[in-house]
Amino acid sequence: MNSKTSTFKCDLCQDTSWVPGENGFERCKCFQRELVERRWRRFGITPSKVKKINEYETRTEITKLAKAKAVQYIRNFNSIRSTDENSLAFLGQHGAGKSHLIIGIGAALVNGEDFISVVYMPYIEVMQELKANAMDEENYLKIQSKYTTAELLIVDDLFKDKVKKGVLIGELKETDMKHIYPIINYRYINHLPTIYSSECDPDMLMDLDGALAGRILEPSSVVVFEKCKENDYRLRKFI
Ligand SMILES: Nc1ncnc2c1ncn2[C@@H]1O[C@H](COP(=O)(O)OP(=O)(O)OP(=O)(O)O)[C@@H](O)[C@H]1O
Ligand SMILES: [Mg+2]
Ligand SMILES: [Zn+2]
Repeated sequence: MNSKTSTFKCDLCQDTSWVPGENGFERCKCFQRELVERRWRRFGITPSKVKKINEYETRTEITKLAKAKAVQYIRNFNSIRSTDENSLAFLGQHGAGKSHLIIGIGAALVNGEDFISVVYMPYIEVMQELKANAMDEENYLKIQSKYTTAELLIVDDLFKDKVKKGVLIGELKETDMKHIYPIINYRYINHLPTIYSSECDPDMLMDLDGALAGRILEPSSVVVFEKCKENDYRLRKFI
């Protein structure tokens, strides 16, 4: 039995960040994982420190279903990723734990054995970033391509600025469409897996834009949290 304990943070590359691959040396998973972590941290989230799926409580039928979908998605990711139902959408009631679940799924896949390069896209922040760079084509395309080509994309709080207290308060403007449509459309056409959270339910997505709603809902397994106080975890002590 080998009683020596390794002093390396990563035994695979012995902290060199390079490992032998099929075509010579290639970057180790630990290096790629650190890159992904750095990108998430820009938005205030560290994948290794987020709330886990197993911290999601299931006291109601809908939370049981949502958690089961999340667990299943992580478990089956490699076998479903290229199919035409490779996406997931948690919709509806705010405070229902939609972000908890989608961030938990992303973190589990970044930190899992297989390492998936998951890109986190908080909708409001990324739309602002894209709009701010709209005049600088080279930079714009660089930012856009992070989201279009991600191995798995997580879109959090989609259309947050269009909803208040569960109802639509605005339309999708031409400028909104110009930035979000190419990302969702590219992923749809190329069968790339995407996970969404949104306070919009399917009807509200359809009201905002039918073409976009179709590209979100068609490849997705959808969980809708009905709008009611019981589904708001933040209010659990008051009801
Ligand atoms: N079933 C649950 N078990 C444990 N914690 C939960 C559960 N549901 C929600 N939470 C916690 O409640 C808080 C709010 O959840 P979260 O932000 O994920 O909700 P949301 O559906 O994304 O809301 P919003 O639409 O406002 O973005 C988080 O701290 C989350 O971890
Ligand atoms: Mg959220
Ligand atoms: Zn390594």
